[in-house]
Amino acid sequence: MKLHYLGCLLVALGLMSCGQQAKKETSVEIVPKGVWNDTDGNYINAHGGGILQYEGKYYWFGEHRPAKGFSTEVGVNCYSSDDLGTWKYEGVALAVSSTPGDEIEKGCIMERPKVIYNAKTGKFVMWFHLELKDQGYAAARAGVAVSDTPQGPYKMVRSGRANSGVWPENMTEEDRALTVTTDDFKEWWTPEWRKAVEQGLFVRRDFEGGQMSRDMTLFVDEDGKAYHIYSSEENLTLHIAELTDDYQNYTGRYIRIAPGGHNEAPAIFKHEGTYWMICSGCTGWAPNEARLFSAPSIWGPWEQHPSPMRGVEAEKTFGGQSTYALPLGDGRYVFMADVWKPDCLMYSGYIWLPVTFGTDGMPTVEWQDRWTLTLSQAGKE
Ligand code: DGJ
Repeated sequence: MKLHYLGCLLVALGLMSCGQQAKKETSVEIVPKGVWNDTDGNYINAHGGGILQYEGKYYWFGEHRPAKGFSTEVGVNCYSSDDLGTWKYEGVALAVSSTPGDEIEKGCIMERPKVIYNAKTGKFVMWFHLELKDQGYAAARAGVAVSDTPQGPYKMVRSGRANSGVWPENMTEEDRALTVTTDDFKEWWTPEWRKAVEQGLFVRRDFEGGQMSRDMTLFVDEDGKAYHIYSSEENLTLHIAELTDDYQNYTGRYIRIAPGGHNEAPAIFKHEGTYWMICSGCTGWAPNEARLFSAPSIWGPWEQHPSPMRGVEAEKTFGGQSTYALPLGDGRYVFMADVWKPDCLMYSGYIWLPVTFGTDGMPTVEWQDRWTLTLSQAGKE
């Protein structure tokens, strides 16, 4: 990225005995909250993003944000890199539509795009949070788009709410049958209301029309099954939903995590058989303390732990909000976060920090002003 890229440090070529393959080691310097430019010298505009690794290259997808305002004027941006430090702009992967009334009409809100590759169909599948033009955050939809190439252009498949007409697997028969509704509460946040939320007040409200889907990520497990993890129920409860084999729809199997916990911005990774999820609380664009969950299976039980952040401003996630956890493939992970600048979202900053594991097996993310990210990849000579 010009991300204060060391540029040079890079390549150690170790020729392997067959003579054709070389081991390429690259090192880049990452400066969290620094000025992150692409190879054209432009500020990287890829917020709420995630990274796809495909055929030795990394593709960073994120929200193109305007200098002023909150709505999407351009679409989802894509950048590519070999070393996670030098980013080439690949263009707009999913563009807004100029057709009035289109679900992704210019002026809608596209957030937190993530892309995964489906080996069975050969398609790249993008999911993102979509809000319809002029409707604020009321629509709470998930958008799905596909492409034959990683960088796009992606074409919309559909958008909508999640899992309509299906109950979460971990909601009891008793809670499904309760008759209390949102109309029964004049006030939110009372102990009675909280209890009702835990018992699925909003799941029942949205049962027919589909569950709300806002902040989100995707996760592909070692067995190739993929999951959509999203903030639902008025951002009060996270859901994990299994995707169909083509990654373009729901199977109908889903669970609620930490009902009423008010978690968003989920970032998930799996380390030595344990599923870890870092997320944030819900305070708009303002930073808050990160939350950490773990589970022995994607289906839970999910257990909450103290925040994994350490160092200056750790209690505010260093001023950032989680967006993705990037596995480097060798037991290392990069925690990625956004430092939102609501007055000028385009220049919102980026925090990338390594995840380390203590002797107790717990992950921590420690603040560093700068650090070196080294990759070792088998490549062609
Ligand atoms: C917090 C979310 O995490 C962001 O993606 C965005 O939706 C803002 N809220 C909007 O206020």
